[in-house]
Amino acid sequence: AQQLYHERHRPQIHFSPKQKWTNDPNGMVYHNGTWHLFFQHYPDSTIWGPMHWGHATSKDLVHWQEQPIALYPDSLGYIFSGSAVVDKNNTAGFGKNALVAIFTHHDPQGEKEKRNNFQNQSIAYSTDEGRTWTKYAGNPVLKNPGITDFRDPKVCWYEPQKKWIMTLATKDRITFYSSPDLKGWTKESEFGKELGAHGGVWECPDLFQLDDDNGKKVWVLIVSINPGGPNGGSATQYFLGDFDGSRFAPVDTNTRWIDYGPDNYAGITWSNTGNRKIFLGWMSNWLYANIVPATTWRNAMTIARELKLKRTGNEMYVASEPVAELKKIQSKPVVLHNIQVQKSFDVASKAGKITFPARLDLNFEKNSDYSIVLSNDAGEEVAIGYNKAQQQYYIDRSRSGQTNFQKDFPARHVAPRLSKAGSMDLSLILDVNSVEMFADSGLTVMTSIYFPTKPFTHIRIESPENVTIKKLTVSSLKSIW
Ligand code: FRU
Repeated sequence: AQQLYHERHRPQIHFSPKQKWTNDPNGMVYHNGTWHLFFQHYPDSTIWGPMHWGHATSKDLVHWQEQPIALYPDSLGYIFSGSAVVDKNNTAGFGKNALVAIFTHHDPQGEKEKRNNFQNQSIAYSTDEGRTWTKYAGNPVLKNPGITDFRDPKVCWYEPQKKWIMTLATKDRITFYSSPDLKGWTKESEFGKELGAHGGVWECPDLFQLDDDNGKKVWVLIVSINPGGPNGGSATQYFLGDFDGSRFAPVDTNTRWIDYGPDNYAGITWSNTGNRKIFLGWMSNWLYANIVPATTWRNAMTIARELKLKRTGNEMYVASEPVAELKKIQSKPVVLHNIQVQKSFDVASKAGKITFPARLDLNFEKNSDYSIVLSNDAGEEVAIGYNKAQQQYYIDRSRSGQTNFQKDFPARHVAPRLSKAGSMDLSLILDVNSVEMFADSGLTVMTSIYFPTKPFTHIRIESPENVTIKKLTVSSLKSIW
């Protein structure tokens, strides 16, 4: 067997559990200098099954240490997705600064019998920095009124009214609840039945504030949807608006997407982080998550991303960029200036041999057609680029190696360019089996996974129009394992 965390296709700069299955990130909370990441986990198989909350911790958002499983299924059901908070004022009576997890209990028996109330919300607490968890004896704390999809509670403290707000995915809309103590919940309002994308069920919401460019607070409501994403299958939309402790009022009727790529789902933000908002998603898609090539583990998370509001023209968007902490594993970069791409430019010819994982940052003088091609000597490749005529970014993994395990996997995915700027910038975070593309300072983002039969070793940049890259920065990224 290959050394743990160095198996073929194993992500080197992304969190994946040592073994077996993972999907959504859960219970993300920052507490006493530690970033907690819980995750949907089935410790007995590489295929989805009875859900547990796995647990990992980090001091820097980059290196992760897996911890013992935090929550096991019980008589109320599997432990589905949810969130965690620091109860600073001891509102729940579990102790000052106790960590409280709020999650969905999914009763498989109720589902089998086609009862419509098999998903209910429950809580658990930890008073030892998340090491051990006690489920509350009065679970569930929010009973299902008869809605088949009733899950993924994200809880935040609403300071003006000194109460907790639960943002819950309820089939085709969001329902907001409030509570003084995390134990008793009152319905406040519903949102979204007539707004946003509705090609599938709504899941894994999040509600938080970001500052706009005038320092004014704007509320952001994140809602994952499956299926119905812009490139098929699972994806994450969001709304901008105002929240008054009871209702969410959107600024407009636009549907915006956190990430247009096929492989960023169920992402939410860490709680208790002050003004910083750090997001991380599950780097897969329900179209094929259970059948992607795997050996001892299956699926991983995206890198942590910092969210900021950015304006372009008259529109405002949530932009994502890799967290600054990623610099910790970045080698001293090779910086190249004014590169003329005449048809094709081999990056190694000027930057030296490329070792993956790697980070590339590019600045193009003007709006141009280009393609950045990752390849190996088996003739497999992934192309990441921009199509000027269509004003679209793309990632093409149709010839990326093993692709035929699912019919939608080998594809070229596209995303609109939202920026109105003349010049273009692009950052690529390249792991052994994924690319995360941040274009125009994170206004258009795409994440895509792939399974080459041999590791990619080369990067070339192609352009039909003699494009000038004003600046190209290449760094290798050190494995976190
Ligand atoms: C989203 C999701 C959640 C659910 C969890 C179950 O990927 O379907 O809605 O809580 O996964 O594992």
